[in-house]
Amino acid sequence: MTVNRPIVHILGLGAMGTVLAVDLLRFSNAMLIPLFRSEEKLNRFQNEFKSQIGIRKLYESNKPLYTFDIERSECPEKFGGEKIKNLVITTKTYQTKEAIAPYLPYIDNETNIILIQNGLGVLEVLKEEVFNNSSKPNLFQGVISHGVYQDKGFIYNHAGWVGMKIARLPWSEGDMIQTVDFVKRDTENELIKLLTQPKLAKDFGIEHMTYQEMLLGQLFKFLINSCMNPVTAIVDCVNGEMVDHCSPVFRSIIDECLSVLRVAYKPLFDYDRKYQGNDQYPTLGVNDVLQVDHMVKEVVDCGCVVNERNSSSMRQDTLYLRDTEIEYINGYIVKLAHDFKLAEDSCKVNKTISELVNLRLGLNRTRAAQGDWRK
Ligand SMILES: NC(=O)c1ccc[n+]([C@@H]2O[C@H](COP(=O)([O-])OP(=O)(O)OC[C@H]3O[C@@H](n4cnc5c(N)ncnc54)[C@H](OP(=O)(O)O)[C@@H]3O)[C@@H](O)[C@H]2O)c1
Repeated sequence: MTVNRPIVHILGLGAMGTVLAVDLLRFSNAMLIPLFRSEEKLNRFQNEFKSQIGIRKLYESNKPLYTFDIERSECPEKFGGEKIKNLVITTKTYQTKEAIAPYLPYIDNETNIILIQNGLGVLEVLKEEVFNNSSKPNLFQGVISHGVYQDKGFIYNHAGWVGMKIARLPWSEGDMIQTVDFVKRDTENELIKLLTQPKLAKDFGIEHMTYQEMLLGQLFKFLINSCMNPVTAIVDCVNGEMVDHCSPVFRSIIDECLSVLRVAYKPLFDYDRKYQGNDQYPTLGVNDVLQVDHMVKEVVDCGCVVNERNSSSMRQDTLYLRDTEIEYINGYIVKLAHDFKLAEDSCKVNKTISELVNLRLGLNRTRAAQGDWRK
């Protein structure tokens, strides 16, 4: 008897790619094929690291390390040329377009792609610059809140367990609101079926939902990231250090983000009024959640109190002189304001915040190369 094994290609075998890959290998029979950026990276993975990946679950009592051997791995130069049925994208946001380019000939209308990334704006890049006059694959988004960082090589530490919301992404604004029945139909989709099978969904915390439910979670997380990431990077501090001083700047950022998001995501902000009391449309309370006073409090609580010892990923990026995801966080608000032809000053806070993050990174790079003038 032949067993039907789903094949899942993973583009971006870093922290997020590995944490999902390990649980897919623990709880399913899927064959996972990581796609590396170059033959050199592929050879290192296969020879130096013996094609092994691992996750240490730091939140479990005995901190178990789960390791798995990867059967097959590829890179653009050596790609076998078969059609890609399921693709998990876990590169950094700004790496997506370049990373997917070599594989476009193998993606068609039946390919399932899930983006598991922070921020917003990759969907627009895919729609406007990647799949603009070619195939239209099934696009999904995973809003992930797990915290993972590298130990060494392809071994990562899974430090914080929070979960992942998944939903089908709309190709046009008219498809932004989904019914419960529409979501149910997707349970037959191979990738969704795989991600929602009970053991994996429980252990990884995967919840499959309508786009509008996921979007509410995504915008909530976006607002946290749009405050915590740039501000900790600019002033170079650990989250909890700024607890008594950060509310005014958070308020300015959140107020402006919400003004722009209300225009760009109008169907979401009109949703409760329009669909209240209809069984096909879950109640969300969007305007109670995405409201300035409430969000300032949430960001301070979640960012500076609950995660007080954390150093944000953007601060880490600027300290280690790596590119940041600012264009897909505060920079996304600037892009939206431009795309929706809003007044010039409608995004001035987020524009300045983005410029200051770039200044911080530039300054750190200059100091690393030329020395620190303060000493
Ligand atoms: N880590 C977390 O705790 C966490 C939590 C929530 C959300 N997120 C979000 O998840 C996303 C991924 O973050 P991450 O922490 O997993 O980043 P990461 O560890 O840097 O992983 C990204 C991976 O993508 C690979 N990549 C880049 N360009 C590529 C290309 N052209 N072809 C193939 N592979 C390529 C990188 O490989 P190279 O080494 O070759 O560059 C790297 O292995 C980000 O949007 C992040 O904000 C992360």
